[in-house]
Amino acid sequence: MGRVIGGEVIEDARRRGRVVLEVLPGDIVTSLARETALRLGILLADGPIEKPAPVKTDGPTAARRVLYKRSARWVAPGKGPHHRGRRFTKIACVGAGGVGSNVAHLVATAHLADEIMLIDIAPGLAAATAMDLNHTAGITGVGTRCNGGEDLSLVAGADVVVVTAGQARRPGMTRADLINVNGRVIGQAAEAIRTQAPDAVVIVVTNPLDEMTVKMLRATGFPHGRVLGMAGTLDSGRFRTALAAAAGVTPADVQAITLGSHGDEMVPITSRARIRGRPLDVWLPQDQIDACVKEAVIGGGQVVALKKRGSATIAPAHAAVELLDYMRGARQGPVPVSVMLNGEYGIRDVVLGMPANLGMSGLLSVEEMRLTPAETKALHAAAAAVRTRLEI
Ligand code: LMR
Repeated sequence: MGRVIGGEVIEDARRRGRVVLEVLPGDIVTSLARETALRLGILLADGPIEKPAPVKTDGPTAARRVLYKRSARWVAPGKGPHHRGRRFTKIACVGAGGVGSNVAHLVATAHLADEIMLIDIAPGLAAATAMDLNHTAGITGVGTRCNGGEDLSLVAGADVVVVTAGQARRPGMTRADLINVNGRVIGQAAEAIRTQAPDAVVIVVTNPLDEMTVKMLRATGFPHGRVLGMAGTLDSGRFRTALAAAAGVTPADVQAITLGSHGDEMVPITSRARIRGRPLDVWLPQDQIDACVKEAVIGGGQVVALKKRGSATIAPAHAAVELLDYMRGARQGPVPVSVMLNGEYGIRDVVLGMPANLGMSGLLSVEEMRLTPAETKALHAAAAAVRTRLEI
């Protein structure tokens, strides 16, 4: 039996701050109600309107969640106090595909550098993207200069080189399957960086990430603090997104990181993760925590499977810019980044994602964080897997 929706129902909806009113099959809407809706700007939408599925949890978890969601003491930390941070002189992006061009776009829009240089072997791609970015300046009013070309020597004088060049995996492949083909790309980029930008900090994004960071380090001969790998910020972002969705909170309410390798041996750190300042098991039953861990690990592969050709571009670009923000002091505190280890966590001579403090000159220190024995064991397993793949 339908309802009669009259003018007073619309007025009541308006008082309660509603902008949409669902009209179900069988409901009768009076002409006065229609006029009132028009006048008050309320949309009469044919229902039933699809609603997000409620987050399923067991009884005690649901009770605790309600309790802590309402806790008056919780204040989302956000991004902390606003720091302006320093500006780079020149950021070079080796690779002007999806990730490289998105990095350049974010850097240009936020004016993180005086100059961006895009480099790509695809004829015209880097120059075209640079020109396109320069055209945005007339809209944004931001004065970053963008240039582009095909020659790797254009990295000359960069204070940061972001390397995204190389092949993306296709559905069914692991990142490690790219080790040989992308290893050659890294070799060429490293040679140009070593000779043309000898003081640069290098941020490797090319996969397989940890292995390519080792190759870049060896081929440039740079001090280990000047060769960083971007993966931890991306994997941590995916982990936080999954946890926020499962707990029904905003991602800003979630603090969580992942360490280890950027592959199957990724180590989302559940013991240190917090939702609104509380441990995960206050909010989520173990099977949902496990599902969030899995989402972080397989997130990149899911994008690859959907795209069929190519991999994620937007989140990786944001994750690379997050590292730039930590380097320039706009964000402070430890951030997960792949670095060569020298005995930290009992691991040495291999690159792995670790919490670290960064500055304009790259790595300042690796943060030793208290982990559970299982998490430490998983980090050692990740180190062993990267070593095996590099045959070291
Ligand atoms: C990612 O995690 O999105 C990238 O490493 C690309 C990939 O192959 O998954």
